[in-house]
Amino acid sequence: NDYKLDHKELTQWYKKNHRALPWRANKDPYRIWLSEVMLQQTTVVAVIPYFEKFLTSFPTVKHLAEAEESSVLENWAGLGYYSRARNLHKAAKALASQGFPKTAAELLELPGFGPYTSRAVASIAFGEKVGVLDGNVIRVLSRRFGLKVEWWNNKGRDQLQKISDELALQGDADVVNQALMELGATVCTPQKVMCMMCPWVSRCVARKENKIDVLPLKKPR
Ligand code: ADE
Repeated sequence: NDYKLDHKELTQWYKKNHRALPWRANKDPYRIWLSEVMLQQTTVVAVIPYFEKFLTSFPTVKHLAEAEESSVLENWAGLGYYSRARNLHKAAKALASQGFPKTAAELLELPGFGPYTSRAVASIAFGEKVGVLDGNVIRVLSRRFGLKVEWWNNKGRDQLQKISDELALQGDADVVNQALMELGATVCTPQKVMCMMCPWVSRCVARKENKIDVLPLKKPR
């Protein structure tokens, strides 16, 4: 039926339509981690030049671990939220000695790795079947399933996380997760949604019920 959880249309759409972004060129966990950290408060288009420059300065975790903090911060200049760079550097020191853990649960122990980053790296770099939840994914899932979910509190987040996890379990978690991110970034956007480009257009509950504008719910201020 229309409301069944099914990753196939989503993942097929992604395979045909995703952007060739620099961090999608290979599965190097360092590159994927770096991209996820940079993308936390910055758009894809803005991140690309910083990503390339940072990797030229610090091509591997080991290079980053051995760098001076001042040099790391210089290479972060312009991106803002410098605690991200400090945590990146701290985690690189741990990773350079212990190696890259391959599960979200282990990654979560490292500085700067929250649930989102841990799950993104574990699924994209190592194929662990865990779902991700960020602003894009919250929007896509809320609309697709017509969920009036209070995503800003634990109960709401857990509800969406469960759906995301189920989708990741069904398919290739790397593809499912990046497909949800990509759909949210390029088609199922906050404004000017492009429903005709969406692989879920005929199944989308928010579209059917004219609730695109009210989903996801707005966080009370
Ligand atoms: N935003 C966060 N992670 C992303 C990724 N891997 N690709 C595109 N946009 C993203």
